[in-house]
Amino acid sequence: MVKICCIGAGYVGGPTMAVIAIKCPAIEVVVVDISKPRIDAWNSDTLPIYEPGLDDVVKACRGKNLFFSTDVEKHVAEADIIFVSVNTPTKTRGLGAGKAADLTYWESAARMIADVSKSDKIVVEKSTVPVKTAEAIEKILTHNSKGINYQILSNPEFLKEVYAHWVPEENIITTNLWSAELSKLAANAFLAQRISSVNAMSALCEATGANVSEVSYAIGKDSRIGPKFLNASVGFGGSCFQKDILNLVYICECNGLPEVANYWKQVIKINDYQKSRFVNRVVSSMFNTVSGKKIAVLGFAFKKDTGDTRETPAIDVCKGLVGDKAQVSIYDPQVTEDQIQRDLAMNKFDWDHPMHLQPTSPTAVKQVSVVWDAYEAAKGAHGVCILTEWDEFKKLDYQKIFDNMQKPAFVFDGRNVVDAEKLREIGFIVYSIGKPLDGWLKDMPAVA
Ligand code: NAD
Ligand code: UDX
Repeated sequence: MVKICCIGAGYVGGPTMAVIAIKCPAIEVVVVDISKPRIDAWNSDTLPIYEPGLDDVVKACRGKNLFFSTDVEKHVAEADIIFVSVNTPTKTRGLGAGKAADLTYWESAARMIADVSKSDKIVVEKSTVPVKTAEAIEKILTHNSKGINYQILSNPEFLKEVYAHWVPEENIITTNLWSAELSKLAANAFLAQRISSVNAMSALCEATGANVSEVSYAIGKDSRIGPKFLNASVGFGGSCFQKDILNLVYICECNGLPEVANYWKQVIKINDYQKSRFVNRVVSSMFNTVSGKKIAVLGFAFKKDTGDTRETPAIDVCKGLVGDKAQVSIYDPQVTEDQIQRDLAMNKFDWDHPMHLQPTSPTAVKQVSVVWDAYEAAKGAHGVCILTEWDEFKKLDYQKIFDNMQKPAFVFDGRNVVDAEKLREIGFIVYSIGKPLDGWLKDMPAVA
């Protein structure tokens, strides 16, 4: 029986290995991690990650050909193929701080593989890494090898080279190592650039009276542009886009390409601008102050159908509102109070480092409360900010919400999910990203 061991039981390692296990019953898959709480959660009824369908896949294979363990060395030693999907955060200090990828976790995994291996191994880079990491890893492995052969592959999370068992061959792209590594960074940079482009247009739409949804629809009809990934929003979040672009910027700078580096940096600058523009809009609409006012925040995850809050725009928006002394009441169907308080207490870039660097019991931000119901969050509030596009926010009883709010009652829709016209009929003043402004908002222009 072929044995796979995956180092890193996170958002990538856990779900990817669960799919390999269900698609390949003849392969034994063990996912290992140094974090005991994470492994315990994978072995429990409450998985550490929420994703539609994941529970069923894990429960169908766990204990049969899918296992989760903290016994890292034993399973690495026994494996034929080792996937490495450890975190590769942005460096927080030293050379390249704030940009370069921190390969500490990758390197320590590679050294451990060299240490415990007694048979030939295929080592698969699953983490997103800077170009030429495979070469560095190969050096670590071969210089410490004790006569063992290693083959190093790069299989970034979105590619499918080793999945011929269930992916048609014509869909499998094979490239040289460096192209594979760079493709991952390039894909995320292009995707993020698309969102920053549409978000930049959203500011212009608000200024001119155009409607960003109509603009997106119109340009998306050109097949060279295409209709996907053109939704204006309060900003992109998630663990990859910003980190990978910063990494790309650093690689460009190291290769003497400052113009290219600056080009990609601008994608992040527009994203930061979009988040602060949103906060400014909230504050300016309410007579230039939210001090002491209750503001409801609906949605904290970086997108719907996940409990993942890494780099979520909600962090910057909530920090901005708290900075202006608002009382913020947050509701998200999948994010716990503990997680939200941890996120709001954490320094930039610390989230992707191991648990011991993160505050275990963070000093709660006093102006922030977390509730388990959208109506509770909005009760007595002056404004409601929608920051994640959860389907349930489309179906709320907005009349009930309006009746229980202070007047004038505002809705700031950071995801364009509500029917603004219906809400205006109820009596709300509504701000939708990139849409023509209410008379009230026009009279109170936001200064970014
Ligand atoms: P994660 O933080 O959720 O998981 C990484 C896990 O690795 C952690 O549980 C950590 O404890 C473990 N780990 C670190 N060092 C270890 C070691 N030496 N031995 C055993 N376990 C160790 O991260 P993630 O979101 O799964 O991302 C992993 C990699 O995949 C990153 O490089 C990321 O950039 C890339 N990636 C992530 C996504 C995504 O959507 N999350 C998508 C594409 C690529
Ligand atoms: C991304 C890449 O899409 C994926 O290929 C890669 O492997 C990991 O990073 P993910 O972070 O899970 O995936 O989410 P994605 O759906 O790409 O959304 C990223 C962010 O962009 C979210 O905050 C989302 O709300 C935002 N977004 C997306 C927009 O604001 N507008 C859009 O039109 C699309």
